[in-house]
Amino acid sequence: MTAEEKTGLAHFLDLAAAVTGSGYRTSSPEYHFSDDPAPVPIAPTPQCDVAVPPTPSSLISHSSFPAPPVPSPQSPVPSQSDSLAQIAAEVRACTACKLAGNRKNAVPGEGAAKPLVMVIGEGPGSDEDASGRPFVGRAGQLLDKMLAAIGLFRESNCFIANVIKCRPPENRDPQPMETAACASFIGRQIDLLNPHFILCVGRVAGQTLLNTTDPIGRLRGRFIDFETGSRTIPFLATYHPSALLRNEDLKRPAWEDLKLLRTALEQANLLPSRTT
Ligand code: URA
Repeated sequence: MTAEEKTGLAHFLDLAAAVTGSGYRTSSPEYHFSDDPAPVPIAPTPQCDVAVPPTPSSLISHSSFPAPPVPSPQSPVPSQSDSLAQIAAEVRACTACKLAGNRKNAVPGEGAAKPLVMVIGEGPGSDEDASGRPFVGRAGQLLDKMLAAIGLFRESNCFIANVIKCRPPENRDPQPMETAACASFIGRQIDLLNPHFILCVGRVAGQTLLNTTDPIGRLRGRFIDFETGSRTIPFLATYHPSALLRNEDLKRPAWEDLKLLRTALEQANLLPSRTT
């Protein structure tokens, strides 16, 4: 490991530990690591490994998403000339499932219009429901730190959204009908944003987007081809930041996933190389 990698990991672990504890760390200790004398051999990780079957042409009709059981007049419908603002307006007006009845705010997503990375989570929690913004609670603050550790920021180069736009009660898993009712929103967002990479956080988002029941431990750790119809997007799943807040043991593999994404961004000349 390089000194920079060690420092990044130490800060990441510090942050995760601090967030897990009583409050948030406002400053980190100074670390003075040195490079390892020889590179640590790492098993080659397949980039953009095809792990999902070929899918039909548009994500809106992506086989990953179950079809809405009962199309209703309120169901989200893609418009001719789509825009992020149009989608956000439809999300806020949507009454396609019963989650609409309990929301304070729908949470369409936010971030850069031409993102390097689209980060996709599960659905709003109470802080997000209260604010109308994605990932603003404890898990969201940890997510921001994790992204910053690899040079990603919602203000400039990534977009953050969820597969579900309204908060499920008691933060339960979304039900299939709810996921189906929301499916076209995230599909249209992916199509419009056309990100270079997708970073999917957590089991629910991973299983929903990939239409699989595989556990997150099997989905994470490698790039998967995500077919939108018009292109293939490298898709990386990792643990949800809430899971990292609950389980210390997941921090190291999550950091490995983030390093994989950073390396891929560097190899695609989308971020400057840190190792040369
Ligand atoms: N968890 C999520 O998956 N999404 C959010 O926006 C907040 C918490």
